[in-house]
Amino acid sequence: MTSSWAATDRLGVLRRYRDYLPLTEATPLICMGEGETPLVRSQRLEGRLGCGPLYFKLESCNPTGSFKDRGMVVAVAKALEEGRKAVLCASTGNTSAAAAAYAAHCGLDAYVLVSKGNIAQGKLAQAVAHGAQIVAIDGNFDQALALARAITAKYPIALVNSLNPYRLEGQKTAAFEIVDHLGDAPDYLFIPVGNAGNITAYWRGFVEYQQKGRASKRPRMMGFQAEGAAPIVLGRPVEKPQTVASAIRIGNPANWRGAEAARDASGGVIEAVSDEEILEAYRLLAQEEGIFGEPASAASVAGLSKMSRQGLDLRDRISVCIITGSGLKDPETAMAIPTTIRELPAELTAVEKAIGLA
Ligand code: F0G
Repeated sequence: MTSSWAATDRLGVLRRYRDYLPLTEATPLICMGEGETPLVRSQRLEGRLGCGPLYFKLESCNPTGSFKDRGMVVAVAKALEEGRKAVLCASTGNTSAAAAAYAAHCGLDAYVLVSKGNIAQGKLAQAVAHGAQIVAIDGNFDQALALARAITAKYPIALVNSLNPYRLEGQKTAAFEIVDHLGDAPDYLFIPVGNAGNITAYWRGFVEYQQKGRASKRPRMMGFQAEGAAPIVLGRPVEKPQTVASAIRIGNPANWRGAEAARDASGGVIEAVSDEEILEAYRLLAQEEGIFGEPASAASVAGLSKMSRQGLDLRDRISVCIITGSGLKDPETAMAIPTTIRELPAELTAVEKAIGLA
């Protein structure tokens, strides 16, 4: 039975980390090539910030362009194992893209609830392309999540938000990969925080790997929310969250306690970065490193820059920033970067002149 699901040449999260995941003999080992994402050494920011080795973990290289695939593959495999016919999630975009794709891969129905006008075009395009049933509610993500919980409590549909424990189990494998690549845990992990599942999952992964003797230490967890959507930093829910980083436009994170526990147990922080700082980091990443992350992903780099400006000494430390999703998902933000696109006739001399060669 399992071989019929082995549809790629890649191991994927389920087979690669089988011993660390809550799988049974009956869990179908589905795979779309998720995981094994690149850890890329910084070319310029490292020197500019004066920090020690700095790496970017490109979770944007997952099949649907974000880290969500790691958790979704486990959640959907378990839904299949339990005989479910449909999955449902509330989403700021990436979870719904992953749910729609994995459901399509496995022949399940997908329902996605999004907040009207609050989701990047590329992500919506993914849900549309994969044939999900999409509902855009007149309300924010937190309200969509409350509806998702109510519906899945009432009908036999699998909830595939990070409230589903299998999601975080899958997502923790990114921490395993970082340790496997570096040979040990880094000193610092910089990560954006929205619904707070990912920081919780990474921490779980680092703790588990140390307990199993695969790492000698654990990193400090440095989480970053957007200033206008920073409930954990403020210590209270934000009723109308606002930020350019639509993926983390969340006012009442479901995994709030998990994020605080990761921060406190690791000696880390959860802080806020402004939209300006996010957009500056977004541009720097793209232009100085060649890495096109989405705005929410840039919050990790904005956080690193901010902490380093504020005096955090990273000189002899190894740091990793998580690039959680692809910049291609949010073309509107990229196209707002000031630039001039010159329109010319198809003539050699005109083009040479325009680009300063003649
Ligand atoms: N980065 C990106 C690109 C995301 O899509 C998200 C969350 C986060 C960071 C934050 O991760 O929620 O685990 O703290 N996106 C969710 C979604 C909420 O619906 O796609 P988190």
